[in-house]
Amino acid sequence: TPSFSDYLRQHIRTVPDWPAPGVQFRDITPLLQDPQVFRVLIDAFVQRYMQRDLRPDAVAGLDARGFILGAVVAYELGVGFVPIRKKGKLPFTTVEETYELEYGSATVELHTDAVQAGDRVLLIDDLIATGGTMMAGKKLLEKLGAQVVEGACIVDLPELGGSARLRQAGLRLYTLVDFA
Ligand code: PRP
Ligand code: HPA
Repeated sequence: TPSFSDYLRQHIRTVPDWPAPGVQFRDITPLLQDPQVFRVLIDAFVQRYMQRDLRPDAVAGLDARGFILGAVVAYELGVGFVPIRKKGKLPFTTVEETYELEYGSATVELHTDAVQAGDRVLLIDDLIATGGTMMAGKKLLEKLGAQVVEGACIVDLPELGGSARLRQAGLRLYTLVDFA
């Protein structure tokens, strides 16, 4: 019998050689576009994070696809949403974290008043590749004294080692679909 993971996988499009030759890009837009699939996807996250031991004080979403998921999940949980943005987009004082990409580096920022020390925060994105983005998000939240209850995303690319590195760094992860 096909699993929930298989059902979601059927609604993720693979685009060969994008954005660069040799990359198999896992595109989640078909999953968002289908109202029935979008609903069960969001419900999976909401059901999990409604549980008393996992319910966060806030949801932090990673730029840009983490905003789509995170905002809806936060709304359904009845908690606030805070964006972790690529550098230069947030207007107030920020903390920032720079991390290495395959070529070059990236910097993400979080408003210094986005969370309070001691807050339990759910960190959400669409996909983990090298894990650099989610690791940077964890570090930003921890700089403000918050605790990341879990990192959640739709897709994990386990062969890139990102999810293993994140778990090794002490982050609990909840991912729905693996692609080799
Ligand atoms: C993608 C994806 C994750 C990140 C995963 O975002 O949505 O945020 O990369 O890669 P990593 O695990 O190697 O860090 P991208 O940088 O393409 O930005 P976008 O959402 O603004 O398109
Ligand atoms: N899909 C979406 N985002 C990504 C991917 C991918 O395959 N790889 C790195 N970021």
